[in-house]
Amino acid sequence: MAPVPKGGTVAVTGAAGFIGGWVVRRLLDKGYRVRACVRNTDDPARCGFLRALPGHVSGRLTLHAADLNDAGCFDDIFVGCHGVCHVSHVNDYNDADAVQRICDHIIASVNAAGTVSRVVVTSSVAAVISDGDIKELIRRPVLYEDRYPMETHPKFTPARGFGYARGKLIAQRAFADAAERSGQWDAITCCPADNVGPIQSAHQKYMGPWQSNIRTMLLGKYYQTPAYRPWMPVDVRDDAESHVRLLESAQVRNGERYIAWSTETRKVEDICAMIPRLLPELGFEPPAVTDPFPERVQAREAELRSIWAGCALRNDRIRAVTGVQFRPFEESLMDCVESLIAIGKVRPRRTAAAA
Ligand SMILES: NC(=O)c1ccc[n+]([C@@H]2O[C@H](COP(=O)([O-])OP(=O)(O)OC[C@H]3O[C@@H](n4cnc5c(N)ncnc54)[C@H](OP(=O)(O)O)[C@@H]3O)[C@@H](O)[C@H]2O)c1
Repeated sequence: MAPVPKGGTVAVTGAAGFIGGWVVRRLLDKGYRVRACVRNTDDPARCGFLRALPGHVSGRLTLHAADLNDAGCFDDIFVGCHGVCHVSHVNDYNDADAVQRICDHIIASVNAAGTVSRVVVTSSVAAVISDGDIKELIRRPVLYEDRYPMETHPKFTPARGFGYARGKLIAQRAFADAAERSGQWDAITCCPADNVGPIQSAHQKYMGPWQSNIRTMLLGKYYQTPAYRPWMPVDVRDDAESHVRLLESAQVRNGERYIAWSTETRKVEDICAMIPRLLPELGFEPPAVTDPFPERVQAREAELRSIWAGCALRNDRIRAVTGVQFRPFEESLMDCVESLIAIGKVRPRRTAAAA
């Protein structure tokens, strides 16, 4: 199907969120017309940063109220759009029927509009790497687009914490199948990893999880990452750029998915220690990492760390198709910290000397 034309109109769901806000910004920077979909356009805390963008002043960016749970909520908004970036979260990933129902609402609005040629659906690397049996990562350690979790594993259930990964897979397939049936548009899935980078609005300091983790780190508390998995960062601006380039690409095909990550990995304790190295002026005192896991999980720490260390993260496919360049984590972390302080008004814990 045709990529979104230069200067065309794109609707973005979850536009007040961390990633959605940057997708809006990159689209505007590249000359597109943007329909930012939020739940409440009258909420200044969530929408103020969108209204402050120059594109809003000129009219190139418009704000629209829509709750994904309401059938038909995008009918009017999508009419005349060339592309849709469906970035938004859903209320409950554990409810497979609800996830499917929400996909159906959006798909119906895309079909009804008759003008949309491409939908980019935001999934997650959880839909690549989350396995009910972590040892599956030893058997299949290359983390790339064609790697799927073992969906038949008995632990791959919402009750065992895999509802998010399952929900993302349901959405990926729902959109690809609907696009195939329609023959009028295609659906490309973007699977981002751990988004770090500048927040654009104070409310985003609580979202994340990764920028919120950095906020708590700055405040002097930090917890080990679940399953001792390293952070697998992507700068939120590069993630947004990936979304936009997938809208623009003439090479992508319906049903494909692309992972947005730099392929760097970082241990949580190293991240804490990096902040004072990157920003010595802050006088930040890094907290010790606390380990909230039960003893039986703690006993497996060395094993879990070595399993993750044996994995190979790949981003060849997205780089080849979109040419996107992923910036180094240091830049994302520094910009995240500075934005949390400047925009989020976070006050970092300081050493006695600095205080
Ligand atoms: N952050 C990451 O590191 C990461 C990693 C992998 C994948 N992802 C995926 O990327 C997407 C965006 O993540 P994010 O970190 O940017 O999330 P976020 O900052 O929490 O923003 C998500 C947005 O979803 C919207 N939303 C939630 N329920 C909604 C509903 N019922 N109707 C309409 N809008 C609803 C919210 O809109 P309002 O503000 O209007 O209420 C919110 O702004 C998600 O699909 C997430 O799974 C994120």
